[in-house]
Amino acid sequence: MSKQTSEGWSSKLGVIMAVAGSAVGLGNFLRFPGLVADKETGGGAFLIAYFISLLIVGLPVCWIEWTLGRFGGSKGFNSSPGIFHAVLARPWGKYLGLLGFIVPVGVYFYYVVIESWCLGYAWTSFTGGLDLGRDAAAYAAHFNAFTGMKGDGSILGLNGPFVFFIGVFVLNFVIIYRGLSKGIEFICNWGMPLLILIALVLLARVLTLGTPDPAKPELSVWNGLGYMWNPDDVLGGLAKPAVWLKASSQVFFTLSVGFGVIISYASYLKRDDDVVLSGLTATSANEFCEVGLGGMITVPAAYAFLGASAVAGGTFALGFNVLPQVFAGMPYGHLFGGLFFTLLFIAAITSSLSMLQPGIAFLEEGLGLDRRGSVTFLGLVTAVGCTLVMWFSKDLKALETVDFWIGDVGIFLQGTILVYVFNLGFGFERGWTEAHRGAEVGIPGLFRPIIRWIAPVYLTGIFLMFMLKNVAGWNLSFTEPRFTPTGQVLDLVGGPGREASGVAQLTAVFLVVFVAFTVLLIRRAGERWSQR
Ligand code: ALA
Repeated sequence: MSKQTSEGWSSKLGVIMAVAGSAVGLGNFLRFPGLVADKETGGGAFLIAYFISLLIVGLPVCWIEWTLGRFGGSKGFNSSPGIFHAVLARPWGKYLGLLGFIVPVGVYFYYVVIESWCLGYAWTSFTGGLDLGRDAAAYAAHFNAFTGMKGDGSILGLNGPFVFFIGVFVLNFVIIYRGLSKGIEFICNWGMPLLILIALVLLARVLTLGTPDPAKPELSVWNGLGYMWNPDDVLGGLAKPAVWLKASSQVFFTLSVGFGVIISYASYLKRDDDVVLSGLTATSANEFCEVGLGGMITVPAAYAFLGASAVAGGTFALGFNVLPQVFAGMPYGHLFGGLFFTLLFIAAITSSLSMLQPGIAFLEEGLGLDRRGSVTFLGLVTAVGCTLVMWFSKDLKALETVDFWIGDVGIFLQGTILVYVFNLGFGFERGWTEAHRGAEVGIPGLFRPIIRWIAPVYLTGIFLMFMLKNVAGWNLSFTEPRFTPTGQVLDLVGGPGREASGVAQLTAVFLVVFVAFTVLLIRRAGERWSQR
């Protein structure tokens, strides 16, 4: 089989920027600080579990995706189902790539909605509309009104937030329509340096905040850093399954591993392009942005102005309620606030674009659509998903349900499938040799047992705990799922104290239909591929 696609990256640096652009996102600047600041999982315990997870699953699965993706690309495939079809060479192989379509498209349903909040907040901040004084309730009310949480569907009027959403949604598709190098690579080449520049400006501002209120000397930026980074009760923390679950879930989410993104991006590489160093470089860039920038900006600033109770309210509360209050309290706060939300928007768009590319690749190679057709098709599918997320926006119920099933369960499953396919389907030794084709430096030998034994055991163990807790409702002393500003647990998953909710169930039904529809598309694609 010859390589079918004429698309490709214009440079080696371009693909690394694109993967780093996909990885660096809301996960780095909102989710990570929120998790570290949460004392249930925070402090030393979370960070130890986080770095261990990075080493034993994050980096290994990242290398697996780069390796299998480049291999699949050499056989003419650029989508997850196609690459699994090439890797496994079995009629059922393509179905194992299902999640490589479901996950990126499904995460896009809500990610692009949050992305539009970021742009809206940037605009409101720059134009002075986000300075609502010192009343915390005013900021919460603003967020609720902005996201449509006042009532189901209230966002769907022709009001500010909806206009931002339409603008951001269309912008994503315009960029993706331009293709890999003129669209994604171009945006990431400009966006990533700009993002780092803005983050450094904000970091300098935060680290020079000192003690904003001299009457409260304990509220200083240094104590904020201490609150975030000082270890407390490490052994107790590591004994909690929740800490491991959250740490590895964060590693997957932040690296865009298990999304179906890296495997698709890598398929556009040339046969001898280095995947070992590229994977390591993109991962290191993400960790610099996450630990070095994301972990140093939001929580210390919020702590210095508002104290410990304000920073522990959850990811969205921290980003959209607490930080606007913090910016309102500092000189030129509207500018710094505007810059912060611009940073979030740039981080988000380079990630949301990466969630569209695997779907475009599948529709093109699976259904034979041209770019215009695939962009239109995917535009319609994602418009339905985004509408569901926004229409049932009260308490972010639909958003959290999609995030749970796709962003948590789906990503974990896909990561686990990748490890098993690499070890058993492709063959570990063959895969190890394949990874090193064209590599300037080798993967340290330590990763042989990690990829072969430790990662599958760890992922299977974590996944079982995850399912027992969230689906069977077992009490394993887990804490709340993420993205939960109201502190509610998901209704759908049952268990004591959880009320039934039509929205969660409707969203789950929608997801089942989405999966069934994708299975049919893959079957159709298989008929095309068998005639090649
Ligand atoms: N990796 C992306 C993020 O961290 C999805 O937001």
